[in-house]
Amino acid sequence: MKLIVVTGASKGLGLAICVRLLNEGYKVVGISRTMTDEFKVLQKEFRKALFRIEYDFSNTNDIQNLVRTITRAHGSIYGLINNAALGHDGVLGTMHETQIKELIAVNIESPILITKYASRSMLMKLQGRVINIGSIIASTGFNGLSVYGATKASMSGFTKSLARELGRAKITVNTIAPGYMATAMTSGLEGEKLKSIERRSPLGHLATVEDVSGTVSYLLSDDAKNITGTTITVDAGSTA
Ligand SMILES: NC(=O)c1ccc[n+]([C@@H]2O[C@H](COP(=O)([O-])OP(=O)(O)OC[C@H]3O[C@@H](n4cnc5c(N)ncnc54)[C@H](OP(=O)(O)O)[C@@H]3O)[C@@H](O)[C@H]2O)c1
Repeated sequence: MKLIVVTGASKGLGLAICVRLLNEGYKVVGISRTMTDEFKVLQKEFRKALFRIEYDFSNTNDIQNLVRTITRAHGSIYGLINNAALGHDGVLGTMHETQIKELIAVNIESPILITKYASRSMLMKLQGRVINIGSIIASTGFNGLSVYGATKASMSGFTKSLARELGRAKITVNTIAPGYMATAMTSGLEGEKLKSIERRSPLGHLATVEDVSGTVSYLLSDDAKNITGTTITVDAGSTA
């Protein structure tokens, strides 16, 4: 059973990724700050394949230990899905420095550090997949999301160079850039603002967490072994 680590597994996209991967026979370790009823239900269904570790990625000091705990309990890591992120919005001029620092710690520093330690386990096996979750906001921009946008844009830069570094060990590194998906992170977007996002989609609807988890599953599959260093946009054409 290949072991996949999914950060931000308690809800939204991370939970949908867990559902998809468990149904495909992977063993999954999900990381989040909180436990949710949905995750509990999933754990009951997949007793022997789904595990959870509580960790807050605003603390970047214990990530080496976090990875050590996972590999000691479950063996080497095949895939890492860097999905956990915060979506604080606000005009830069009035945004608190603590919020800016938290966005950078959770959305940039933590994914880099967890990849550093998880990739060691992949390097020993000469196989592995790193999948970073970016956002179309990284390339389109959105009023009030400058810091979030900066953190998401960093994922594609990280992906490009790391793909060069890890390629010789047959480890692939890619980013998925989703468009708007209905989750807790976007629950504040409604009314005319949401309608105008929907109107931008040539397919007449928006992408879902299931669409994006399907792309994660593809990137983990053998069919995607020669895809690395790229960003795949899943946005129902919103940025076309
Ligand atoms: N929703 C969208 O429209 C959209 C669009 C483009 C990209 N994305 C990206 O998709 C990914 C998933 O977003 P989502 O919409 O599913 O958001 P969400 O529903 O808010 O879920 C975020 C997940 O990250 C975890 N998380 C947040 N802060 C954390 C921290 N400090 N430590 C540990 N875990 C933390 C949360 O768990 P706990 O709260 O339990 O810790 C939760 O499981 C993110 O990378 C986001 O940037 C989302």
